[in-house]
Amino acid sequence: MNDRPHGPIQDPRVNAVIARLQGARQRPAGSRGAFDGRDPHAYAEQGFSIHPEQGELIYLLCRGLRATRVAEFATSVGMSTLYFAAALRDNGGGTVIGSEIVPAKVEAAKRNLAEAGLVDYAEIREGDARQTLRDLGGPVDFILVDGWPREEGPSLAREVIEIVAPQLLVGGYVMNDNAEPDYLAFIRDPQNGFVSMTLPIKRGTELSLKVR
Ligand SMILES: C[S@@+](CC[C@H](N)C(=O)[O-])C[C@H]1O[C@@H](n2cnc3c(N)ncnc32)[C@H](O)[C@@H]1O
Repeated sequence: MNDRPHGPIQDPRVNAVIARLQGARQRPAGSRGAFDGRDPHAYAEQGFSIHPEQGELIYLLCRGLRATRVAEFATSVGMSTLYFAAALRDNGGGTVIGSEIVPAKVEAAKRNLAEAGLVDYAEIREGDARQTLRDLGGPVDFILVDGWPREEGPSLAREVIEIVAPQLLVGGYVMNDNAEPDYLAFIRDPQNGFVSMTLPIKRGTELSLKVR
């Protein structure tokens, strides 16, 4: 059973998969605090998944928006995908477009979605999200810009938000998990069409609304 009995998801099958993934959380061996890996293929066993408070907020906001099309960078083993897919299913149908560069994680996410009964509500695109999210096939209601560290250059979160922001509907939300400084500079610049706040969830979760 889900150890968060007052969460918004009512389906025990979905909650059981979320609880199992939460229970399996692990850091890479030898890491302390923020992990310093860069090659995503070296971390095929670790989910680095969003926290339940973030997932539950995604679920509530997507229900409130009556969302039918959403996207995420990235999918990993599918924790965030489960919250999105549950909301779309409970809204009457839709698709979460996922992205993941590690093939084993794509397979794990699909297994987890199948176990939760949600596989019909997700399309996981394997490859580099900077390519696979370039064309979402139409406007989306919500985007999760999770992240992955990089040695140098702009963060992946910054590169991805520049690709996906034009594909988000006005009135749609973006959630960011890792507070990359160049991502925050983009999303907080009024010229880019968002209003934004930092929620006291995890180390600071940025939630932004597209207003124009
Ligand atoms: C923080 S995890 C995502 C966690 C996921 N949202 C969840 O809740 O389970 C980041 C993921 O990004 C993937 N990744 C790293 N670089 C990528 C890229 N360029 N394109 C797509 N996925 C990438 C990693 O393999 C990793 O699984």
